Amino acid sequence: MPLVHKLLSWYNLNQRDLPWRRNPDPYKTLVSEIMLQQTRVEAVLPPYERFMQRFPSIKDLAFATQDEVLTFWQGLGYYSRARRLHQAAQIIMTEHDGLIPSDKNTLQALPGIGDYTCGAILSIAFHQPEVAMDGNLLRVGARLFLIRDPINRTKAKTAIKTGFESTVPVERPGDFNQALMDLGSSICLPKHPRCGECPLSDHCQAYVQGEAMLLPIKDAPKPPVPVQVQLYLVESDKTILFRQRLAGGFLQGMWELPWYETDTLQVAEEYGWISVPLESGSREKVYEMEYIFSHRHWFMTIFHYKVVEPFYTPQDENTLYRWQPLHSVDTIALPTVFKKVLELVQNSLSG
Ligand code: ADE
Repeated sequence: MPLVHKLLSWYNLNQRDLPWRRNPDPYKTLVSEIMLQQTRVEAVLPPYERFMQRFPSIKDLAFATQDEVLTFWQGLGYYSRARRLHQAAQIIMTEHDGLIPSDKNTLQALPGIGDYTCGAILSIAFHQPEVAMDGNLLRVGARLFLIRDPINRTKAKTAIKTGFESTVPVERPGDFNQALMDLGSSICLPKHPRCGECPLSDHCQAYVQGEAMLLPIKDAPKPPVPVQVQLYLVESDKTILFRQRLAGGFLQGMWELPWYETDTLQVAEEYGWISVPLESGSREKVYEMEYIFSHRHWFMTIFHYKVVEPFYTPQDENTLYRWQPLHSVDTIALPTVFKKVLELVQNSLSG
C-alpha cells in the first residue's frame, strides 16, 4: 500500500477531534493555525473557543479594538501574533472584500502569515496540495527521509519540505498535513518513537536503518540573553499603575508594569525615566525576581512605591497610562511576568 494511503487510513481512525477540524472554513483555519504556532493543542483549546465566540467572523475581528483582541489572546503568549492577526483581518476587510485569499502570494503577503501558516490554510481550507511544515513534520520528515543534518538549519528543512512536497496528495492535502501532525504528536515522538505502532514504518528510512531513536539532530538552542530590569510597582490603595507602550520594542502594545532595561545601579526615578510623581509617596520595599522568556532572561529589581493619590499622567505620544484596581487586573491583557510580580508583592499591598 502506498505511504499516503496508509497515512490517511490511519488518520481516518485515529484523528483527534478538535474544534477547528469540525466543518473547517478559512477563518477557523486562520485563527487556529496562528494560535497553534509554538503552542500546544491543549493550551489552545480554551482560548480558541472564547476567541471564536467573541469574534465569530473576520469582520468581527477586524472591527474590534486591539486591546480587546489582546485580552482574548490571554493564556497564549507571543502576543505579536494577535496584533498581526488583527492587522491581517483589517487588510482582508479593506482589500479583499472580507474574503481570506486563496492565492499563495496574496495570502503570504498578509501580516503574520509565514510559510507554515500559508501551507496550513491553503491545504486545510482551500484543498490545495501544499505542505505545512511545523515541528512535528520536521521530526517525522527527518526520520522518514533519513535527514541527518540538524533540522533547525535550512539545508535539512529544504530536504524535508521537498520530500513532503513530492508526497502530498491532490486529494485530502489538509488531512495529509494534519495526519502527519497527529502522527508526530502521538507516535513519532521526539525521544521515544513508537515505531511498532507506526503505520509508516515500512516507508521510514530511519526505522529501516535502525536510526529512528537517533534522529532528528538539532543544534543546541542559544541560551536566553541576561537582562537587568528595573520594574516599578506604583500603588495607591490597591490600585496599580499600568502602562501600554504603543510603539517600540519588546512587549510593545501590551499592558505592563513600567519597566526599564538598565545596566546601572541608579534607579529609574533618579534618571527621570518614570513620569509619575514618586515623590508624593514612599518607597515601601525592594524585591528581586527572575523570569525567563524564550530569548531573554530578566533579572528584575522591583521597586514598590505607595503614592498618596492616584492620578493620570498625560498621555504621551507612545505610551498610555492607567490605574487599575488589583481585583480587576484580569480584564486587561497582562503578560505572565507581570502577573507573577503582582503575586509576589500581593501580601504587602496596603488595604
Ligand atoms: N498543530 C498545528 N496545526 C494543527 C492542526 N491543524 N491540528 C493539530 N495540531 C496542529
